[in-house]
Amino acid sequence: MIYILEKIVVRGGVRLSGEVTVSGAKNAAVAIIPAAILVDGECIIENVPDIRDVQVIVEILEHLGAKVEFVDRHTLKIDSSKVDKQTAPYEMVRKMRASYYLLGALLGRFKKADVALPGGCNFGLRPIDQHLKGFSALGSENTVESGIVRVSAEKLEGASIYLDVVSVGATINIMLVATLAHGTTIIENVAKEPHIVDVANFLNSMGANIKGAGTDVIKINGVERLKGGFYSIIPDQIEAGTFMVAAAATGGDVLVKNVIPKHMESVSAKLEEIGAEVIEYDDSIRVIGNGNLKKVNIKTLPYPGFPTDMQPQIVTLLSICKGTSIVTEGVWESRFQYVGELLRLGANIRVDSQTATVNGVEKLKGAPVTATDLRGGAGMVIAGLIAEGETEISDIKHIDRGYEKMEEKFRQLGADIRRVTCPE
Ligand code: UD1
Repeated sequence: MIYILEKIVVRGGVRLSGEVTVSGAKNAAVAIIPAAILVDGECIIENVPDIRDVQVIVEILEHLGAKVEFVDRHTLKIDSSKVDKQTAPYEMVRKMRASYYLLGALLGRFKKADVALPGGCNFGLRPIDQHLKGFSALGSENTVESGIVRVSAEKLEGASIYLDVVSVGATINIMLVATLAHGTTIIENVAKEPHIVDVANFLNSMGANIKGAGTDVIKINGVERLKGGFYSIIPDQIEAGTFMVAAAATGGDVLVKNVIPKHMESVSAKLEEIGAEVIEYDDSIRVIGNGNLKKVNIKTLPYPGFPTDMQPQIVTLLSICKGTSIVTEGVWESRFQYVGELLRLGANIRVDSQTATVNGVEKLKGAPVTATDLRGGAGMVIAGLIAEGETEISDIKHIDRGYEKMEEKFRQLGADIRRVTCPE
C-alpha cells in the first residue's frame, strides 16, 4: 500500500462568511452500518458522511460477507443476508473505536463474535466493561484474551441492566444485542446522545421494538427478525459545532445548514455566553462573531451537557477570549494532548489533570502543528484560521476519519486553506 502524506495549510485572519452544509453524523453512521448486520433484507441508508471511518466499517462488513454498495456518495445499500464470518481481525478494527459495535451486531444475529479490542483516538483508558456486563446479562459468555474479545451465547434472553457508567457505546451495543433477543430488556442509566436515538430509530424502522431512546431508560421488546427498508442519518452535531465555533473565533458570520438546533443547545448557549450572536432557524443556525469575546467556564458531560467532542474546538476559541476560562473534562481520563500544539501557536494554557486553565491571549501566531486526534485536529484548523500567518497541520489522517472535505467547506466560507501533498 502507498501512503501519501498530506498536510493542511491555513493562512489565518479571514473572517468566515457565507453558508456551509453539515454532513450526516459520523457517530450515528459508524453504529448504524454495523447494525445493518441484524437486518434480514436490504437496507438503504441515506445521508452517510463521506469519511474514512465509514470506509473502514464498510470494508469490515464486506470482509464479513455483507454486500455493500454505494448507490451514490452519501447513500449505502447493505445486504447482510450472506454474512458468514463472525471474526473481525485486529488489522481492520484497530483503525476505529466504533468497531466494538460489531460485537453487539454479530452476537445479536449469530450469537457469537470474535472482535479484536478496538483502536481509535487515544484519550487514556477506554474500557468496554459496561458493554460486556450488558452482554452477560443477556446470556453471553465473554472472554478477553490476547487482545481479542470473544462473546457467545446459547440463547439470548431479555434482562434488566443498570449501567454503572453513562456510556454511549455500551447503550448502543446492548440495544443491538437485545433487538433480536427473546423477551424484554430494560437498560437503565443509559446515555442520551442524539445518535443513540438515531440508531434506535433506524432499528425501529427496520421492525425493532425499542422505546425510550433519548431518556434515561430504554425498553426493548425483542422481535423475531428485522426486515429491510430506508433510513436517513441525522446531521452531525459535532461538525455543526465545529463550524459554529470557527465562525465565532474568526469574528465571522456563518449560516450552518442541515442542523437540528435542539442538538446544539449546549454549544449555542456557551457561544452566546462568550459573546457571539447565535440565531436559530428550523434546520440551520447562524453564528455571528465580534471582536469582544470573553471567558467562560465549561465542564464536558454526557448529552445534553457540553460535548467532550467539542472540547478542543472551544478551548481553541477561548485561547483568544478575554480573561481566564476554566475547562474541565468530565468524560475522558485524558483529553488535553492537543494543548501542547496550541502552545506552539502562542496560547497560554495550563493543564492540571482534568482541568485546563485558559488565559486568553491577544492573538495566536502560525506555526507547524500536529493533529493529535480527530477533534484535536479540528481545534488545530480553527487555531490556524485565527492565527496570524501560516499554520501547517500534519497527521491529518485523524481529521479525515471524521470530517467530510473539511478544508473545502472552510474554503467555501472564504478561508485561505489548502491540502498539500508532502514530498516524502
Ligand atoms: C462515544 C463517541 C465519542 C465520544 C464519547 C463520549 C462514538 C463512536 N464515539 O465514544 O466520540 O467522545 O462517546 O461522548 O460514538 N466507559 C467505561 N466502561 C465502558 C464504556 C465506557 O468505564 O464499558 C467510560 C469511558 O472510559 C469514558 C465514559 O465511560 O470515561 C464515556 O465513554 P463512552 O460514552 O462509552 O464513549 P464511546 O462510546 O467510546
